[in-house]
Amino acid sequence: MTDGPPGWGAPLHARVLDLAGVGAGTTVLDLGCGPGTFAAAAVARGARVVGVDADRSAVVAASAAVPGAEFTVGDAHDPPPGPFDVVAAVQLLQHVANPLAVLRAAARVGDAVAVTTWGPEEECDVSAFGEALARWLPPRRPPSGPPPLTDPARLRKVVGLAGLAVVAEDEVECPFTYPDADALVGPLLASGIGRAAAARAGAAAVREAVLGRLDVNRTRTGGYVLRNRFRVLVARGGGSGTPRS
Ligand SMILES: C[S@@+](CC[C@H](N)C(=O)[O-])C[C@H]1O[C@@H](n2cnc3c(N)ncnc32)[C@H](O)[C@@H]1O
Repeated sequence: MTDGPPGWGAPLHARVLDLAGVGAGTTVLDLGCGPGTFAAAAVARGARVVGVDADRSAVVAASAAVPGAEFTVGDAHDPPPGPFDVVAAVQLLQHVANPLAVLRAAARVGDAVAVTTWGPEEECDVSAFGEALARWLPPRRPPSGPPPLTDPARLRKVVGLAGLAVVAEDEVECPFTYPDADALVGPLLASGIGRAAAARAGAAAVREAVLGRLDVNRTRTGGYVLRNRFRVLVARGGGSGTPRS
């Protein structure tokens, strides 16, 4: 899926921080921190945050954006020892080689583990991008193996296999709001699927296909709103009912 417009994750981040009880002095490990947007929201609540990402450029960006937190290059499968009150994996699990191993490692170093995922495709308007460009992209492989972690039952199962017990779950709608067609199409053309489609069909055809498919998402002022649902889950290891002090 494509990245969203700036600020799209604010409702998701706020819900994670609420459900995990993050406040002044809470120690948070932000696994797969990206450019530090979630870390910034946690620091704004007074948390002490360590962010880890495999991508050095993300760590550089996060360090510049959130001077109040500490960021380091690392692998979520092998997190720093902590211990932390909360380990957050915000939009991470779909990107790692072994989500179960990441959750087990998170359970080892954190009292609470907070995870977010996209909702299923039918709950996310951004899936329309892929539909609009499908004719120029390689056919999608039929699903094989276990259901994706966007399936809430599957996510709960993997969390359980990691030795964690779910203590809170919620759904959050995060609209992707674009002021006009250029703001919608520009980032898409710069993304992997946009570049692949444009290489075959040309940027103008891609633009026409996307704007045609997303006409239903057009606002009266000429902008676009794509509604997407995300899931948040907070879990704790067996026997650890209270936050570390
Ligand atoms: C979709 S981004 C999410 C970024 C951030 N958590 C947010 O919500 O804005 C996924 C991030 O996970 C990082 N990542 C992927 N695999 C990783 C791994 N094994 N260890 C650490 N970071 C990883 C990527 O570099 C990327 O920054």
